[in-house]
Amino acid sequence: MLYLLFYLHGTLLLLSLVLVCSFATYLVYKRQKFLHIPSPPMSRVLSGNIYKFIAVSFFKGHADEISSMRHTGYPTDQKFLEWHIVYGKVLVVWFWHIPVLLVVDPEIIKNVLVVKCQPKEAMSYKILGSLYGQRFLGRGLVTNLDDDSWKKRRAIMHPAFHRKSLKDLMGSFNSTADLLLEHLGTMADGQTEIHMFNQFTKAALDVICKVAFGMDLEIMSGKENKFSEAVSLSFYGVEEASFDMFHQFNVFQYPFQRKVVKAVQFLRETGRKVIEARKHAMARGEEVPDDILQRIIQQQEEIPELGIEDLVDDFVTFFIAGHETTSSLLAFCVIKETLRRHPPATGNIRKIEKGQDVGGYKIPTDVAIITSTYVASHFPEYWKNPEEFNPYRFDDGEVLRRCHYSYFPFSLGPRNCIGLNFAQIEAKVLLSRFLQTFKFSLVPDQSRAVLERGTLRPKDGVKCTLTKRH
Ligand code: HEM
Repeated sequence: MLYLLFYLHGTLLLLSLVLVCSFATYLVYKRQKFLHIPSPPMSRVLSGNIYKFIAVSFFKGHADEISSMRHTGYPTDQKFLEWHIVYGKVLVVWFWHIPVLLVVDPEIIKNVLVVKCQPKEAMSYKILGSLYGQRFLGRGLVTNLDDDSWKKRRAIMHPAFHRKSLKDLMGSFNSTADLLLEHLGTMADGQTEIHMFNQFTKAALDVICKVAFGMDLEIMSGKENKFSEAVSLSFYGVEEASFDMFHQFNVFQYPFQRKVVKAVQFLRETGRKVIEARKHAMARGEEVPDDILQRIIQQQEEIPELGIEDLVDDFVTFFIAGHETTSSLLAFCVIKETLRRHPPATGNIRKIEKGQDVGGYKIPTDVAIITSTYVASHFPEYWKNPEEFNPYRFDDGEVLRRCHYSYFPFSLGPRNCIGLNFAQIEAKVLLSRFLQTFKFSLVPDQSRAVLERGTLRPKDGVKCTLTKRH
């Protein structure tokens, strides 16, 4: 019996050893193909434990160093920026066995996003498409990786984002601004600390619900915050799943994962109800607005193979894309410079096929490539005093033209942000109305740290006290 036990243990140990050695050999084989591309050393003692460091960094590559940024108050892209400054404009980093190219060269960025419009990298968008096995953004506009299907659907959605259609929405933007100002007015005593990020998140949510889907959830009155919580939680899930490839299999994370799945289900269920209600209203011959929801439903008329779940994908996509990013922008203030210093969406992940040339380096296998507006907008070669918050740098229109490929908070090329004008008009209306009505002071000693939750947001929420202008 004892002999059998020893034999079993021995076999298991041997098997594990063979597995580890095979993986190690595979790593060496794969990494040596990229030796011609600069790469930061995988040699930093992270926990003070040299043995752990050697083993861990060999297998994990740069994964720990990158994910450790999450606790510093800086975004992950800050680490990329630091590496670019030291190792050049094209580099490769490793997440275990997965190589990722980082680039900050404007010509390469132009090629990747605009000229060649490289396809989105499947693995990264898969997490947004389906989270812990629950369909999330599915094949909605952001996550649709089938070029033909995406083109058709984007063309149908497009008219809802023309400047003319957006002008018709000014009334809705202004009515949300009225509610926001009224609510803030009750606290504008120069003493009450107001969490501006929360207030603007509510305003952005109110706008997208009314304007895009014809829903009034009375968000500004504070009656409804389940939606913001569900969006926050689902993004938290995306963040965890993206940084730790084994997260899904970690049993200790199951309770968290169940909460995330429930949040996603709640958002999708809401979408289903809203779509059905609009379809019934149309069937009854009622007059319905020509809004984003209408365009989503129209997709089914023009592409009959789309089912209700495909429409829900776009409901959730616009619901999230339409308020999460804008609320971060509003809370950070002063639009162009804010988007340079604190871009809510830091970058894009695309795919480069084997054999292509990137900045003079031949790419040996298919790889993901990250073009980061955060990195490019902070790169000292392109920006004077990049850490300084200086809105006047945009006074000269020339700067923007010159910096076209080192400043792209809404991305560039065919897959850029469809909501660009929407977000800018909304921000201008809400901010100008806010600034006309109130003087504000930042509460002292709060941190300027950012929190990465799919998008970047101010960790302490930008607390302010307000007084009314007379
Ligand atoms: C400050 C506000 C915003 C920022 C910074 C922003 C940024 C971005 C970025 C960087 C992308 C490219 C993502 C990628 O490459 O995967 C994107 C795509 C997208 N955004 Fe926005 N966005 C904002 C507001 C909005 C609004 C208000 C809407 C809708 C009402 C919206 C809807 C979308 C959609 C649907 C896509 C996918 C487009 C496609 O692939 O065809 N965004 N956005």
